[in-house]
Amino acid sequence: AQRREINDTLARLSLSSENLQQVKDKMRVELERGLRKDSHSTASVKMLPSFVYRTPNGTERGKYLALDLGGTNFRVLVVKIRSGIRKSVRMYNKIYAIPLEIMQGTGEELFDHIVQCISDFLDYMGMKNTRLPLGFTFSFPCRQTGIDKGSLVSWTKGFKATDCEGNDVVEMLREAIKRRNEFDLDIVAVVNDTVGTMMTCAYEDPKCEIGLIAGTGSNVCYMEEMRNIEMVEGDEGQMCVNTEWGGFGENDCIEDIRTRFDREVDEGSLNNGKQRFEKMTSGMYLGEIVRQILIDLTRRGLLFRVPVPNREVQSCINDHVVQKLSDRLALLQVRAILQQLGLDSTCDDSIIVKEVCGTVSRRAAQLCGAGMAAIVDKIRENRGRNQMNITVGVDGTLYKLHPHFSRILKDTVKALAPQCDVEFVLSEDGSGKGAALITAVIDKYLYAMR
Ligand code: BG6
Ligand code: GLC
Repeated sequence: AQRREINDTLARLSLSSENLQQVKDKMRVELERGLRKDSHSTASVKMLPSFVYRTPNGTERGKYLALDLGGTNFRVLVVKIRSGIRKSVRMYNKIYAIPLEIMQGTGEELFDHIVQCISDFLDYMGMKNTRLPLGFTFSFPCRQTGIDKGSLVSWTKGFKATDCEGNDVVEMLREAIKRRNEFDLDIVAVVNDTVGTMMTCAYEDPKCEIGLIAGTGSNVCYMEEMRNIEMVEGDEGQMCVNTEWGGFGENDCIEDIRTRFDREVDEGSLNNGKQRFEKMTSGMYLGEIVRQILIDLTRRGLLFRVPVPNREVQSCINDHVVQKLSDRLALLQVRAILQQLGLDSTCDDSIIVKEVCGTVSRRAAQLCGAGMAAIVDKIRENRGRNQMNITVGVDGTLYKLHPHFSRILKDTVKALAPQCDVEFVLSEDGSGKGAALITAVIDKYLYAMR
């Protein structure tokens, strides 16, 4: 009987192929709504124009600074790009911490901290007196009106600095540089991490026209036809669109597959009601979902018979633990991991915990796959093709470190978009390289104009 109760609980988190097909179809509807003028303001998938018109072609060259803010690590980089037959990219970077009180303090403090890190980096590189063009990877939704203009729509993931939403992030960075009054920089481009990742991979593979992040957050960008992007003037050629698919479902369209655990996680988050798809698919929230389920099972007397204070369960399950426990481990190993977390488990307990982790991760990967199937089929139809080959450039700790995530994602795309042959290529170099490539294109153009 207890086993049945546990199975019932987990069944709500297991998606059938019909469920997944529906997710794909609904994602397609939201993608279209986000692109159209009349429905754009209410679409749950924002479809933000990036003002990036093409992927790299090997003619990019020069020396650039890049910032990479919003993933697990904040990086400052210098990127040297050579063009032609000796085409190559060399990068030097340093990782800096962003303390929680800065992530959630005032906007001024956040941008002052960023500039402080740039200053340290320039000292470290012995480059204080060279004024370099800078590409800014900023991994949050920005409404852009040009490649170097973007106002923050809303913070996502763990950030919540005050007085930033609605403001231009490039301006905020420029002002912080001015406040410090120590060095000068030309901020040339602001780029979402999906776009940077797509550009990084496209530098090696011209078939790469999609960027996917499965990490702290979840998001996709892709090359869309200008004629379909009603929010931007012009019908010729293409532009990369940052979908911000993490917001999918904010208009209640996927309530049928959300569970009470998802609602619980949402309510406990910094942005209640927002980023509902992201909260089911990205690394920042997987541990939270698992934790909610374990607390529930414990309360109902189905798990951890030795009473465990909820607080204890709460503070120790995170995405790393979920990743580890989703692997093919012997039960003794599972028990050892739980033991390390201070959770005394029986053999049955470890089986259950492992099942919960596996189910939650599998659902995340399948949902990403269903979303991706909608994207590739849209691109295929844009081109009036029956069959299409395309490459997705991917980054993010969930994709890189989880033992099964990438396989389940690929299987799902294959099943739901059989007319597309989709290759996934891991970005080895991060999105800063892509931001520098974009900066190189703009810089060349600005130079020609002078
Ligand atoms: C990095 C990219 O490699 O991956 C970042 O350079 C991106 O721009 C990040 O945000 C995403 O992964 P995670 O897991 O760090 O959020
Ligand atoms: C969040 C952000 C988005 C970013 C993604 C991955 O969804 O809103 O801009 O691309 O995380 O980092």
